[in-house]
Amino acid sequence: MPYNLLKGKKGIIFGALDDKSLAWKIALRCYEEGAQVVLTNAPVALRMGEINKLAEQCGNAPVIGADVTNMDDLQNLFTRSMEHFGGTIDFILHSVGMGINVRKNIPYTNLNYDFNHKTFDISSMSLHRILQTAYKLDALSEWGSVIALTYIAAQRVFPDYSEMADAKALLESISRSFGYHYGIKRKVRVNTVSQSPTRTTAGSGVKGFDGFISYAEKMSPLGNATQDDCANYCVTMFSDLTRFVTMQNLFHDGGFSFTGVTPAVIEQMKE
Ligand SMILES: NC(=O)c1ccc[n+]([C@@H]2O[C@H](COP(=O)([O-])OP(=O)(O)OC[C@H]3O[C@@H](n4cnc5c(N)ncnc54)[C@H](O)[C@@H]3O)[C@@H](O)[C@H]2O)c1
Repeated sequence: MPYNLLKGKKGIIFGALDDKSLAWKIALRCYEEGAQVVLTNAPVALRMGEINKLAEQCGNAPVIGADVTNMDDLQNLFTRSMEHFGGTIDFILHSVGMGINVRKNIPYTNLNYDFNHKTFDISSMSLHRILQTAYKLDALSEWGSVIALTYIAAQRVFPDYSEMADAKALLESISRSFGYHYGIKRKVRVNTVSQSPTRTTAGSGVKGFDGFISYAEKMSPLGNATQDDCANYCVTMFSDLTRFVTMQNLFHDGGFSFTGVTPAVIEQMKE
């Protein structure tokens, strides 16, 4: 149900690949809540063409290609978005991740550092690149809100998450550090949302994902949070109702992060 929480707000959504993507649901929900959006993804992802369907559903939103590791692409994205909106940007969703060693099944104890460097650049430094581009162009409105999606492997070891755990730890740190500077400059808030495991293209790339998703379901008093619930939460974080929340890692995981054990898991151990 729409509450008009984002009426008049303008945002850039990074990372909608297909209709399973977290960013896809978040873009739709932002639009439903009255926001105008610009959609962006890597040029190679745009060639799939799926994103054009989302653009139509978001009131013919512009789609502007940008590789998050390329500063010229980001500069172009922000400049064109501000032209399109006729002013500054109120919110940004960073929903981007790629573990190259993970994709290539290279174990954590044998990382290829060229791939690892690329993983960090795409999954973590990209948030710094985006914020730095916006900061220099003074592209974000006062009280603007930036969210990056993350995962609890930044705090606790999930062995198969491999280098992405380190990437998420760096991402969360950048959100705190830049959150400080952007708070001082423009009262812009920067947070990470730590989402339950969710069936998406990136999610399914993690080894043993199906078993893991049912383990998390059993370990969360509320069960795993879905894409739609993640979208609802992000809307509140982009809205004016959460203006003093910044530099936080916010768990959106049905209680998984603070649960030690549950009867459902103990029961399974007995079998
Ligand atoms: N699915 C999960 O279980 C889960 C849980 C917690 C957090 N997350 C995080 O949510 C975010 C979105 O992932 P998702 O699960 O929706 O999967 P997804 O595969 O749909 O989204 C990942 C996106 O990153 C984009 N991307 C990759 N390289 C890029 C580049 N160089 N430039 C620009 N974009 C690039 C891809 O094109 C894709 O759209 C990621 O940060 C992921 O780590 C996912």
